[in-house]
Amino acid sequence: MKFMSDDPLQIAPDVMESLEKKGVSRRDFMKWCTGMAAMLALPSSFIPKIAEAVLAQKPYLVWLEYQDCAGDSEALLRATAPTVGQIVLDILSVEYHETIMAPSGHMAEKSLMDVVENQKGKYFVVVEGSIPMKDNGVYCCIGGRSALDLAREVCGNAAATIAVGTCATHGGIPAAHPNPTGAVGVKEAVPNATVINIPGCPMNVENLTATIVHYLTLGRLPQTDNLGRPLFAFGKRIHDNCERRGHFDAGQFVREWGDAGHRQGWCLYEMGCKGPATFHNCPTVKYNGGTSWPVQAGHGCFGCSEPHFWDTMGPVYKRLPNVPGFGVEKTADKIGAGLAAATAAGLVLHGIGRAISPKKKDEE
Ligand code: SF4
Ligand code: F3S
Repeated sequence: MKFMSDDPLQIAPDVMESLEKKGVSRRDFMKWCTGMAAMLALPSSFIPKIAEAVLAQKPYLVWLEYQDCAGDSEALLRATAPTVGQIVLDILSVEYHETIMAPSGHMAEKSLMDVVENQKGKYFVVVEGSIPMKDNGVYCCIGGRSALDLAREVCGNAAATIAVGTCATHGGIPAAHPNPTGAVGVKEAVPNATVINIPGCPMNVENLTATIVHYLTLGRLPQTDNLGRPLFAFGKRIHDNCERRGHFDAGQFVREWGDAGHRQGWCLYEMGCKGPATFHNCPTVKYNGGTSWPVQAGHGCFGCSEPHFWDTMGPVYKRLPNVPGFGVEKTADKIGAGLAAATAAGLVLHGIGRAISPKKKDEE
């Protein structure tokens, strides 16, 4: 793909024609590239580089699905134009995806093995769902082979594996107590593979797209936290960017579903929101093409992108007495309060005090 030399953003006419045939205007495409650069915190000089990278390459990708609900495939298929469906999937050669591929049976398995053998070290793998380790992995088999055996071969020979959804990253709901199948995430099942984790229940397809774009543009996976999650998407807590944060700081909490505070968009902490303990970019990127996210819709975050959230973040509608990270928040707010006027500081501390030990209704 070539750009006109006098304008780095001007896409060659033949490439533009092919994009337009897919319903993507030049404006849409450049808007998308600009959005990707912003999401990855890359300077604007990278916008033409992103455009060039995604149009110039057609890497192979295989999508493996193990113990899951197919929610991540749904997230992918519900991607709004012109994101994954029209750009990334068009620039990737998706050779294997059990749910949406045309071949079946032996022909499907052959498509997978052709990639592993002929594109060794060059292809991407996306894994959705957990891998059962108990009893030699017998609880999840495809084409007569266990998920564990397949993942070892397919992920072990890939350029990179992107584990999507909390099941593939940390075992998710199949790994919830008592975890009868010994379910684990991909990195635990295949420790020698190069794996990046994009948790969420389901994952946010924008984060998958941005990870692939980062790799295509810079030739490497994005920087990650100690749980293998890209920092551009999981570097901040939900609570840091939440639109209800002002109400938390002011001590304005919803106490009952549908009460006056709920109708006015107050903080959901006392209704069980785990946003202070959850790292994810939901408030800024949102779901369904930026339409909404759980807290905007009026429900607390239940920490779906944290490892073992089903066992550790529940009960969903109860405020945890000692939310991990809450002490950090308290310190941060105290610092913020110190910089503010005395009245404002009082409100901040009031908010924290209420979050720690809410008053009973009859005390109000
Ligand atoms: Fe938002 Fe939840 Fe934090 Fe309240 S507790 S500000 S609803 S993330
Ligand atoms: Fe999950 Fe919480 Fe986001 S429940 S989708 S991490 S708001």
